[in-house]
Amino acid sequence: MSDFLKAMQFRHACKAFDTQKKIPAEQFEEILESIHLSPSSFGMEPWRILVIRDEKLRKALKASCWNQSQITDASELVIFTTDNDVVRSDSPYVQKMFERRGMSAEAVDMYVGIYGQFIAPLEEDEILLENWTAKQCYIALGNAMTCAAMMEIDSCPIEGFDKEEVEAILDLEYGHSVAVMCAFGYRLNPQSQQKRLDLKQIVEYK
Ligand SMILES: Cc1cc2nc3c(=O)[nH]c(=O)nc-3n(C[C@H](O)[C@H](O)[C@H](O)COP(=O)(O)O)c2cc1C
Repeated sequence: MSDFLKAMQFRHACKAFDTQKKIPAEQFEEILESIHLSPSSFGMEPWRILVIRDEKLRKALKASCWNQSQITDASELVIFTTDNDVVRSDSPYVQKMFERRGMSAEAVDMYVGIYGQFIAPLEEDEILLENWTAKQCYIALGNAMTCAAMMEIDSCPIEGFDKEEVEAILDLEYGHSVAVMCAFGYRLNPQSQQKRLDLKQIVEYK
């Protein structure tokens, strides 16, 4: 079996973290790098990652995260936020993201045009735009969890929170929002059995 699948088997949504065990800095940087290297639609990288280390802030967040102990007990708490403003079609950021590919001016214009058509229906509705930037974060989230598991570091993805309350606590910049969170650290208890549908139930060949 590949190391990748072994890591997938090691990973589970860790509910109870050992408060005494801290992730070594180098390994945590590797997890951050897996986020950094993740692909995003049109290469827009709309994620803005917050690493929450302040104990008081963690406590305040916990109350708005269904009181989940992972928020305060994990070695690291990563919050995937997004910048929904810079990805609008008329933003200089979009222009720069295409220009950095080293294409001709005509090719950049062409990409900006295609992107503009793609994003137009989403930017009419803030929620659609937020959903699109959040989708990109979930790709990075998956990579980060598997990257951690490859180093035998546990994680718990967290969607169980009051978005408005969390955004108020974090005092996010204009146009930014919270997509999802992930706690990283070391399990206290043995891994729960992985429960999955049969592969046949979810895969169909046509
Ligand atoms: C996007 C996402 C959000 C989740 N949010 C929470 C959460 O808030 N709290 C929690 O304990 N587990 C959360 N989970 C864990 C899932 O319940 C868990 O992954 C699923 O039941 C499968 O179990 P396993 O990951 O242990 O194999 C979340 C999982 C995902 C993918």
